[in-house]
Amino acid sequence: MKRVLVLLSSILMFGGVLAGCSSNKADNSVKTIQNKKTLVVGTAADYAPFEFPIVQNGQKKIVGYDLLLSKKIADNLGVKLKIVNTEFPSLISELQDKKIDLILAGMVSTPQRKKAVAFSKSYYTVKNVLLVNKKNQARYNTVASLKGQSVGAQQSTTQETITKSQLADANPVVESNLTSLTTELKQGKLAGVVVENAIADNYVKSYPHDYAIAKVKLTTPKSFRYINIAARKNDKALVKRVNTEITKLQKNGQLKELFKQAQALQAENK
Ligand code: ARG
Repeated sequence: MKRVLVLLSSILMFGGVLAGCSSNKADNSVKTIQNKKTLVVGTAADYAPFEFPIVQNGQKKIVGYDLLLSKKIADNLGVKLKIVNTEFPSLISELQDKKIDLILAGMVSTPQRKKAVAFSKSYYTVKNVLLVNKKNQARYNTVASLKGQSVGAQQSTTQETITKSQLADANPVVESNLTSLTTELKQGKLAGVVVENAIADNYVKSYPHDYAIAKVKLTTPKSFRYINIAARKNDKALVKRVNTEITKLQKNGQLKELFKQAQALQAENK
């Protein structure tokens, strides 16, 4: 009888070990990156201070807050960092097609995106404002003042949703690249561009004669406020690793420092 019990319990234990193995096997996300010795991060470099291009020694380089954070994550994994710069609207499909391992692009974790990708914990919080041409600062104080006016928003972003719902009487101008919209704003072709406060502040600080933030009130729903890193749905081990790194950088104050570093980089290179 005793023998049977011992045998039974060892079978059960072995089963448990096997089950443990198979659940590990299902997620090789960290191992895969370590085997190829490179973390590939997708971004859309039209979003200073999160990501923007600079020219260093005659070479174009993508820098910013998201890139500094990406480097920390790559270091934590013990691998090199490779950046893939593309337009914001194609990032999620690039991730699903395994062209990139993570998205760091000032992306908020909307319920719709949560159906397609997994998100880390948040590393920045935003709200939305209307960026206007400095000349028109006093002109667009209310939602009603934008009736029939052309208002820009980047394609496939929360700004597109906010523009179409909250400025329903305006004429939405949706483009895939944010810097083309802000250039058109400066040229007087648009009345405003809906952007996040961190981005708007950056424009106003860098180009105080060209841009201003309008008084018109926009509402940012909670689900549009938190900027997170996106990973493939099944890459749970990778998300866990990313979260550990974010928590560490939050606790030791480095996350805030990285943001300031990115702002300084932008000020030097504008
Ligand atoms: N935070 C907004 C969103 O997630 C806009 C992000 C745009 N990012 C960029 N790199 N252009 O929809």
